[in-house]
Amino acid sequence: MVDTFTQKCTRCGEGYPRPKMVGACQKCGGIIKISYDYSEVGKTLDKKKIRGRPFNLWRYSELLPLSSAENVITLGEGGTPLIRSERFASKLGLRNLYFKDEAMLPTGSLKDRCATVSISKAKEAAVKSVVISSSGNAAASMSAYSARAGIRCLVFVPSSAVPSKLLQVTTYGGKVIKVNGTTGNSVKLAADATRKFGWPNVSTAAVYNPYALEGQKTSAYEMVEQLDWKTPDWLVIPVGSGNNLAGHWAGFSDFDELGFTNRRPKIAAVQAAGCAPFTEAVEKGSKPSEVQAWENPETIAGGVRDEFPYDVELALPALRESKGVAVNVTDSEIIETMKGLGADEGIYSEPTGAVAAAGLKHLVASRTIDKDELIVVMVTGSGLKDPGSLSRHFPEPPVIDADINHATKYLA
Ligand SMILES: Cc1ncc(COP(=O)(O)O)c(C=O)c1O
Ligand SMILES: [Zn+2]
Repeated sequence: MVDTFTQKCTRCGEGYPRPKMVGACQKCGGIIKISYDYSEVGKTLDKKKIRGRPFNLWRYSELLPLSSAENVITLGEGGTPLIRSERFASKLGLRNLYFKDEAMLPTGSLKDRCATVSISKAKEAAVKSVVISSSGNAAASMSAYSARAGIRCLVFVPSSAVPSKLLQVTTYGGKVIKVNGTTGNSVKLAADATRKFGWPNVSTAAVYNPYALEGQKTSAYEMVEQLDWKTPDWLVIPVGSGNNLAGHWAGFSDFDELGFTNRRPKIAAVQAAGCAPFTEAVEKGSKPSEVQAWENPETIAGGVRDEFPYDVELALPALRESKGVAVNVTDSEIIETMKGLGADEGIYSEPTGAVAAAGLKHLVASRTIDKDELIVVMVTGSGLKDPGSLSRHFPEPPVIDADINHATKYLA
């Protein structure tokens, strides 16, 4: 740990001492930005040193907001595979396509990156309880890491949350409370609980929890390393709150600042057509303050069913700075893509995890992405998280007696 970071409000400039676990700015409600002294970091961190460390996200500890390595709560997260696509890519005519498989993280989704940093920070700050609003994945991650830290984790989820994700939360010892209505209601309750009881809100949006983004950015570091210190031309990424998008942008920017890379990718944000406030904002050229909540959000991709992109203040400028685009996908496109990822690449994704890959097809069809460009598509959650979403889209397998002659007619 180099311990050179600062925690400062992006709106009013108020600073918070390093050991303190902050949420939103206590003075003005602004987002807290965590910054690093790159010249100090650069004195101890170089490419060779990084390469010599175990391939998990704590190999970047100089760029993570903890003061002592003793407080790290870990399940071996990070170092997820960057899989070169063969068959999925060739069907689209693409020559340089990779999947960053975040389903391989310990609890099966991208949110473990957020959780290891947030809960380690909670331990450093001697926190006893945390509260979160989540569609299920972030709750599972925070509960698992809280379990290891001996911290109580209270979870608000929309009542539409997938039961298998809630079972995962409960098994990790998290206390689940289902909230009627859309994601916005559970988001509000988590914020209210923080105000009433003082428990840190570890929801994975920088407006509530700046540490989530710090964990999320490490996926950008990893893919650059995995591409032999090259930056992809395009990063294709699903957007719910926009935390993941903003985190990746911060990660690419850190590596540029340190001189490890000299450019950042274009970002293609992908949303579900039934809940697309971020895409709408991009298309309309809205300012973050003008973005409206989506009415009646409806999609099988629960992880991006946020009626409001809570981190729009960070994600929208990041997308624009990247000269990126935003596209939408339908639920049937998501299902088809889940099947394609499975049958063509051996990747088992939950619906939200396949949103970016579904969006890729639009980006190729519209010629936004060139066939020779270097593309990384995020796969953000495992199919094991939500097996029910696909089961009715395949025929039931046959049930037969143990007779090879009988079996033969099914083996063609
Ligand atoms: C599997 C999965 N992918 C993507 C997202 C969206 O990430 P973000 O809310 O940071 O935009 C989520 C959010 O819960 C998720 O669970
Ligand atoms: Zn402030």
